Amino acid sequence: MPAPDEFVVTPYEVKGKIDYGRLRELFGTQELTPELLARLHHLAGGELHPLLSRGIYYSQRDLGPLLQDYANGKPFFLYSGRGPSGPLHTSHLVSFDLCRWMQKRLGVPMYIQITDDEKFWARAGLTREETAHWGMENLYDILALGFDPKRTHVFFDSKSIAAMYPLAIRVARKINYSNVKAVFGFEPSTNIGLVFYTALQSVPAFWPSWAENRSVPCLIPCGIDQDPHFRLTRDIAEGLGYPKPALLHSQMVPGLLGEGAMSTTGNRADDALFLNDEPHTVERKLRSAFTGGRATVEEQRRLGATPEICSIWALWRTRFAESDAKFNDITRTCRSGELLCGECKGQLIERVQTFYAEHAVAREKAKDWAESTIVTTAPKAI
Ligand code: TRP
Repeated sequence: MPAPDEFVVTPYEVKGKIDYGRLRELFGTQELTPELLARLHHLAGGELHPLLSRGIYYSQRDLGPLLQDYANGKPFFLYSGRGPSGPLHTSHLVSFDLCRWMQKRLGVPMYIQITDDEKFWARAGLTREETAHWGMENLYDILALGFDPKRTHVFFDSKSIAAMYPLAIRVARKINYSNVKAVFGFEPSTNIGLVFYTALQSVPAFWPSWAENRSVPCLIPCGIDQDPHFRLTRDIAEGLGYPKPALLHSQMVPGLLGEGAMSTTGNRADDALFLNDEPHTVERKLRSAFTGGRATVEEQRRLGATPEICSIWALWRTRFAESDAKFNDITRTCRSGELLCGECKGQLIERVQTFYAEHAVAREKAKDWAESTIVTTAPKAI
């Protein structure tokens, strides 16, 4: 008998040491192949985002046909989202960094969902005021990454519900309870808000097709933990007369405290860098972060360190090494023992603090136009 899997990945729980190859098998998704990456590289004008070239995005559904359509002059739109349970971590930027790059390189619209309802239903400790508050705060951070105000639309669930509802009504009728229960592992004690919620997460994927009465392809970059929602979305798409959304799945970024403490649990403040951390907090968290270093300097010089298990390396990899040359250099000198952890951390602290300072300025500007991106009217009443 095969050994039981020692990890759990669902939209509401991520724990254990994830075997990503095995997870792809369990979920039945396709590999993000070098051939698909080469096509994206070509369509993006000869550039590949680091999140793609460094393998953080590693899995997909129907990306090939979507890119084929795009190459033939049929554009798609991007859709991703955020459950506002608190301040954003740098690891929450994985989907939005990729989307912003794709919006720019491929000239496509972006739809963002902010689920202040979902997080209120999913987290017993959060009040409505808190999820609504973090919803707006998170939105400023996301928009400040450089989204185009003219081509970016936001479903802020509690504010957009009147617009979403005519479509949500149709979607909800196609999803039955036993499916939702099986897919999410709901218990009899699960509140009924969450049972309905998955219908709302499908709405943005169908929105342009519904609004424009034509088939508009959708691409959803997301953490692989969100795949269960979109399996349902894909199952019901044809019955509603809409195309199945394509997906691009990323790995989950490990927390600063090391293996097993995944960033999505979000309950240990020192496990992640929050975008609203002060410079001295950034420094403290990074200085005490888990690394792949050896017990002594002498040993590290002699044997080298292990980047694959290091939370600092994960940050360089997912966001902070701007060029692949810089990233490869860090990886190589870490492995050889030339680069010691203290120096590597020092470099990263500086990089992160510079980004935070620039981001704070962009964030203030985004506040001026954030409200105008929120969808409040439906294209039709029925
Ligand atoms: N359910 C997601 C969360 O808990 C939020 C979300 C809504 C989302 N729509 C999405 C995530 C689309 C990725 C793609 O964070």
